[in-house]
Amino acid sequence: MSKKLKLLYNKKTILKRVKDLAQQISQDYPSGEIVLIGVLKGGFIFLADLVRALKTSAHIDFVRLASYGASTHSSGKVKIIKDLETSITGKDVIIVEDIIDTGLTLEFLKQELTKRRPRSLKICALLDKKARRKVEIGVDYVGITMEKDCFVVGYGLDFSEQYRNLPEIFFFDP
Ligand code: IMP
Repeated sequence: MSKKLKLLYNKKTILKRVKDLAQQISQDYPSGEIVLIGVLKGGFIFLADLVRALKTSAHIDFVRLASYGASTHSSGKVKIIKDLETSITGKDVIIVEDIIDTGLTLEFLKQELTKRRPRSLKICALLDKKARRKVEIGVDYVGITMEKDCFVVGYGLDFSEQYRNLPEIFFFDP
């Protein structure tokens, strides 16, 4: 990879927004009776920090989705390749996603999880590339709305499995 990485969001900004989101969620669900569903792999670091900033306990589960034929852009064809281990029927559920781009991945996941009849189903995303949305999708908790339309890595987000370890969020400077 000959491209250069440039810092977009530093540690302080990310952790402040994660803390704010955790505070909102803690206020909305004071009993802690929620299921947080981390979307693998990109959301694992965000979920870990979010959970540690919550005031209450929460059930944690994971799904892993794959969009077939995709590289840096979502193809829109999504499937579940690792399903939940818990039943979400009758429960308050929040999907925790790293980044929303076209919205196609979350639209698919929301439809799939709705079939399981949760009591409520919300979406929490660290980053929102709002300008690139192809489908209307309500996002209940947004960390950062991205003004710059760029591909980002770090803080769990990858490019071909690289850069997930970076503690801050970078973009590629061509
Ligand atoms: P969507 O279906 O277009 O909304 O794409 C969502 C998924 O694409 C995310 O969960 C990420 O896995 C991936 N993705 C989209 N944009 C980026 C990015 O800038 N960096 C890393 N992954 C991304």
